[in-house]
Amino acid sequence: MTASTANLQNKVHIDLGERSYDIQIGSHLIGSSATFEGLPDGGIALVVSNEVVAPLYLASLLAALRPRHAQVHSVVLPDGESHKEWSTLQTIFDGLLKHGCDRKTVLYALGGGVVGDMTGFAAACYMRGVSFVQVPTTLLAQVDSSVGGKTGINHPLGKNMVGAFHQPLRVVCDLSALNTLPERELSAGLAEVIKYGPIADMAFMTWLEDHMDDLMQRDPDALAVAVKRSCEIKAQVVASDERESGLRAILNFGHTFGHAIEAGMGYGSWLHGEAVGCGMVLAARLSQRLGLVDAQFVDRLVALIQRAKLPTVAPVIDASDNASRYVELMRHDKKAEAGAIRFVLIDGPGRAMLRPVDPALAIEVIESGCRIA
Ligand code: NAD
Ligand code: GLY
Repeated sequence: MTASTANLQNKVHIDLGERSYDIQIGSHLIGSSATFEGLPDGGIALVVSNEVVAPLYLASLLAALRPRHAQVHSVVLPDGESHKEWSTLQTIFDGLLKHGCDRKTVLYALGGGVVGDMTGFAAACYMRGVSFVQVPTTLLAQVDSSVGGKTGINHPLGKNMVGAFHQPLRVVCDLSALNTLPERELSAGLAEVIKYGPIADMAFMTWLEDHMDDLMQRDPDALAVAVKRSCEIKAQVVASDERESGLRAILNFGHTFGHAIEAGMGYGSWLHGEAVGCGMVLAARLSQRLGLVDAQFVDRLVALIQRAKLPTVAPVIDASDNASRYVELMRHDKKAEAGAIRFVLIDGPGRAMLRPVDPALAIEVIESGCRIA
């Protein structure tokens, strides 16, 4: 991999037949009407954002959309993972109905993965399905959640348990928006970037090792390469398995443990990316325990995750019976089948697979993973 200069405009195509679309990657895209050329115009645009992102970028997006649409409205949600639930979703439907939105209305999701997942789900449901555009403003959303059409909300018993597959018309990744991202959120996004190396592309993992400091400094060239390569890998996987009947599950490397951490600690306590970073450490150790990778590979991955300032020691989520609580939560994972927990394992560097694992082995890894400093 070579580090190209930050392209002002860069596209990744996601090939899904009639649901195909482009991911646009560049700088200063949000405020430019040209960014949205080719999308449906004329009718109503409803922008969904949240109380943190709206003061930063909503006015620019509305100004860019106004010349294209007969009416432009917005709904501003409360911020945070703990609001990714029914009552917040209802406020999007309230806005759609209040503004007389019809089947031609286009929703725009302006924010991180929480806004993107909820807006996409609202678009999937409103009048049995309207169009939407993703305008992701976190690194995590640009490299993962805005791409691929998974939308939904959380249930107290399980993460992202209620939702729909609904592809956007376009994804607009404005790298300039990453400049206002808090450091902790940048790190959380890097977890989903790092994931693509071990599951699909060891050259990318090496590139990340060489450029982690640049990424932490928000070097625009490095961010452009990382977002583009992540989107290319995700686009390839989603194009071959849109509804996760098999291969797409590899994108959930670290997520089985990670979702248990998020739910066990209470949504919003650990960031999704932090839980995934730590979950990747546990999943890599499980892969090592099964003889699929060696200790050197695991150490390399742990070092990279640490350099992204992500936690690598698993939290205690239940003081009385920690490992059992992890297992209980992991049984609710969407990849579980007939009660058996299935994990994404690294099947040799750069390759991943999904398979059931004896819970006793997972417990071993959790117990040692909660101690290792
Ligand atoms: P988030 O949406 O909560 O955003 C993180 C924080 O950054 C929030 O406080 C947000 O308001 C703020 N923010 C957003 N953009 C900003 C900016 N440019 N400047 C300053 N602050 C900004 O979290 P996230 O990490 O973006 O997304 C996590 C969510 O994504 C989780 O709910 C997870 O389940 C979901 N997810 C979905 C998929 C999918 O395929 N649909 C994949 C991965 C993750
Ligand atoms: N983030 C996992 C997926 O999109 O499938």
